[in-house]
Amino acid sequence: MNKKSVVLGVGGYLPKRIITNKELSKMVDTSDEWIVQRSGIHERHIAAEGELTSDLAVSAAKIALKSASLDASDIDLIIVATATPDLTFPSTASLVQNKLGITQGFAFDIAAVCSGFVFALATADSYLKSGMAKRALVIGAETFSNIIDWSDRATCVLFGDGAGALILEAQSEEKAGDRGVLCSSLRTDGSHWDKLYVDGGVSSTKTVGHLKMQGREVFKYAVGMISDVVDDVFEKTGLSSDDLDWFVPHQANKRIIDGVGKKLKLPPQKVVVTVDKHANTSAASVPLALSVAFEDGRIKKGDLVMLEAMGGGFTWGASLIRW
Ligand code: ACO
Repeated sequence: MNKKSVVLGVGGYLPKRIITNKELSKMVDTSDEWIVQRSGIHERHIAAEGELTSDLAVSAAKIALKSASLDASDIDLIIVATATPDLTFPSTASLVQNKLGITQGFAFDIAAVCSGFVFALATADSYLKSGMAKRALVIGAETFSNIIDWSDRATCVLFGDGAGALILEAQSEEKAGDRGVLCSSLRTDGSHWDKLYVDGGVSSTKTVGHLKMQGREVFKYAVGMISDVVDDVFEKTGLSSDDLDWFVPHQANKRIIDGVGKKLKLPPQKVVVTVDKHANTSAASVPLALSVAFEDGRIKKGDLVMLEAMGGGFTWGASLIRW
């Protein structure tokens, strides 16, 4: 019997502390005007001392479980996409599983940086379709504030902390109808690794390191790479941007979002934008944007929703969901 992965719930969580551009301009030589003009970012949330990536993930997961009317015990697969894990091991997913009081099923992390959530969603979809799990909790959670060099104005203004979670259930095609994850397209090209990376790690420096980015280079590739995977999904499903109800892009930069929207000929009112308030939360950005658009009533059952992301690796990907 063929199966489909159907969305049951979504949730997002942002740490309480907000840092505005004005506040940042007291820490480094920058201005609200420069940050807004180059990125569209006005403010970002930053985790408190001792507030871990797994804590943000658990808060988002609890909201997603509530929106799905499920208990934690209903989940048998947890995938956490993160580049800022609590520990080198075990996986943040194991820690989230424990904090949720779950002991059944299996849990693991995915490292695809800003594309992590799209990679995690596609992976969960494959496990559910194959019958290896019944209900998946797919989380993007980050505390990029821990790997930012707060004295580097070129990068510290762009990022924030947060988490988002989505719950998928394996359903028979008969039950799912036209709902479910319809298609995903994933790509990696490691030849671009040094355009966006963290200069520390267990086997190289034995330190955590700080984020390094060639901003112009990332910008140069972003729109083309994102459009390629979105077009691939359209080609494989026979659908087009005219069919979309919502476009939920990775929230890195308003100029990249606008560039992709223009290339896909999407009306701006169909594009979900949260980068102004969240900044770039890496793997958390797409599920956070989904949770905002779901909670404010924009995304409804039956809507056609395209997700996309691009980030360090380079990695990039897109997923099309009938909500
Ligand atoms: N405030 C004020 N001035 C700044 C700041 C700042 N925060 N940061 C850099 N500048 C200065 C630079 O020093 C430079 O000054 P100079 O001309 O005197 O040397 C000037 O501004 C221009 O710097 P550029 O880096 O060339 O600025 P650019 O127009 O390319 O904008 C930005 C920088 C916003 C990073 C842009 O390249 C960009 O959006 N890149 C995409 C990167 C991105 O979104 N990364 C997120 C992670 S990847 C992902 O998630 C897809």
